[in-house]
Amino acid sequence: MTETTVRALGASAGPSRIVLGVTGGIAAYKSAILARLFVKAGHDVRIIPTDSALQMVGRTTFAALSSHPVHTSVFDDPEGVEHVRVGDEAELVVIAPATANTIAKLAHGVADNLLTTTTLVATCPILVVPAMHTQMWNHPGTQANVQTLRDRGVYVLDPAVGRLTGADSGVGRMPEPEQIAQTAFGMLIDQDLAGTRFVISAGGTREPIDPVRFLGNRSTGRFGIALALNAAQRGAKVDLVACNIDRALLPNHPRITVHPVGTARELQDAMTQKADGASVLIMTAAVADFRPAQSGGSKFKKGAGATPDITLIENPDILKGLASDRSHGALVVGFAAETGDEHGTVLDYGKKKAIAKDADLLVVNRVGETVGFGDVDTAITILDREGNPVAEDEGTKSHMAGIVLDTIATHVR
Ligand code: CTP
Repeated sequence: MTETTVRALGASAGPSRIVLGVTGGIAAYKSAILARLFVKAGHDVRIIPTDSALQMVGRTTFAALSSHPVHTSVFDDPEGVEHVRVGDEAELVVIAPATANTIAKLAHGVADNLLTTTTLVATCPILVVPAMHTQMWNHPGTQANVQTLRDRGVYVLDPAVGRLTGADSGVGRMPEPEQIAQTAFGMLIDQDLAGTRFVISAGGTREPIDPVRFLGNRSTGRFGIALALNAAQRGAKVDLVACNIDRALLPNHPRITVHPVGTARELQDAMTQKADGASVLIMTAAVADFRPAQSGGSKFKKGAGATPDITLIENPDILKGLASDRSHGALVVGFAAETGDEHGTVLDYGKKKAIAKDADLLVVNRVGETVGFGDVDTAITILDREGNPVAEDEGTKSHMAGIVLDTIATHVR
């Protein structure tokens, strides 16, 4: 995610009062970058470090970044009753990094510094971003405290895996500021999809030829992931059926459950299983239309003069299946990746596909060598069941995901 995307997402949520709590982990230096992302997106940021955090980053840095005085104790500004005022007015509290010590205090309602006191006063959403050594994170005490916070509705991000303070590495690293900012901005977004459940397929299927080779495609899954994140940020629960998606791209959001699959038939099973009781089913996955009739148990070998004959058989049309059996009661949304050719435009093919698939909505986007795949902008037109355009736009995948969900939201309300 680029800084521009983070800014665009943050700006769309409108300016808000964010309290940024910083506790005494080495990752505290990254909080300065996080504060900057918040300020750049137009938010009013109050930074409340603990005394230990000030061992890592200076008070002046936080004050300059936020344009507000920086205090650590309720006694620093007793006449202003800062913890009550700032806690009351906060629209979001983000604590990053959150040490095991502060997490324990938050779980048990301890109020022994300005940050924990302000957090006790705040009634707004709270985002806690743990950062600590692996052993401390895995400790049953910490895990129980995290669970207590999550049960209470506090949004606790899972720590990342990577290099820790010293030469060691493992789980416990603070996620990058851009990811934290994206999650935080998501929490400021209107929860218009609360109470709904989305099942979204993303990525590309792989059909085995032999144990090491497959028929696949270039889909990275980015659009489906952007949809999943956007829907979750707007309050929906999301089952993300992920076809061969790079682990680094998978979203980290408590309302998203990832179900990894490989082949078209595995994808079909997962979609059918999750469809029951869902509000919306979205097929963004690039499904291989054909699969090798046989995929041997051993590797094809060259030599001996003969080239292997691979017979292909047709895979099920998953979208068509979901659109024809409506027992699930969900809104069905398909995607059409089209290039257009001398016989028809992208939209001509889109319209034909909308009618053939019979999904409630079909999102048509143009793909080719340089457009549509990977981390690039995209242009879409959304068609109804008869192939009539109901919305169109172009821009980043994250922006487009918002447009698609806006259209879907008008159908599920
Ligand atoms: N799709 C599906 N099952 C398939 C093939 C496609 O569910 N076997 C879904 C895709 O996830 C997408 C929509 O159908 O939502 C259109 O996919 P696309 O590849 O554009 O169309 P195809 O049906 O494969 O038709 P063609 O490749 O001939 O254009």
